[in-house]
Amino acid sequence: MKLFVDSADIATIEKLNHFGVVDGVTTNPTLIARSGGELFPTLKTICSTVDGPVSAQVVATQSDAMVREGEKLAGIAENIVVKVPMTWEGVRACSILSARNIHVNVTLCFSANQAILAANAGASFISPILGRLDDIGNEGVALIESIRAIYDNAGTATEILAASIRSQLHVTLVAEYGADVATIPPRVFEQLSHHPLTDAGLASFLADWEKTGMSIG
Ligand code: G3P
Repeated sequence: MKLFVDSADIATIEKLNHFGVVDGVTTNPTLIARSGGELFPTLKTICSTVDGPVSAQVVATQSDAMVREGEKLAGIAENIVVKVPMTWEGVRACSILSARNIHVNVTLCFSANQAILAANAGASFISPILGRLDDIGNEGVALIESIRAIYDNAGTATEILAASIRSQLHVTLVAEYGADVATIPPRVFEQLSHHPLTDAGLASFLADWEKTGMSIG
């Protein structure tokens, strides 16, 4: 499963990219606002920081305007993926942009039928929003399982990009259920390597090694 960082904070993205396991970045209007940066310079810097896809979301709600915004965003860098909301206007914008060989990530997906529409519109990615389903008492990860089965039945190329990840368990479960990508907020991303037994085991190895008085070089 590919790991994306769900953030527009350049310093945070650079820090996580340092470990060599960041495959892309997703942003949205809220994350851009939270970053405090100007949209185009921020996206350009992010695109030059990571090699993989960088999702940048339109803010128009009518398809023609979405397409105009999408083409401007796509012009920032070759690795920009244009994000559109899962509305009928977003479906039409996705159809037009994908026909122009602009990669599209359809976001705010909360049902399998929405995922079917996005795939049929040529989306490169579909973003099921897990945490917000959990927030209203649904089981967000079950949507990944459903979309995976539907896409596999149809041989769909659209990649499932699990979003609104709230925990390490979410990461594990979406991987088990066959998501192609998990886009992970920095707080959770930084936790991925941590386990108390790893820390204790390393401390024990080093303490025993220290007693030998030897060195590797
Ligand atoms: O853009 C989709 C994703 O970033 C939303 O996550 O945590 O705001 O539900 P969250």
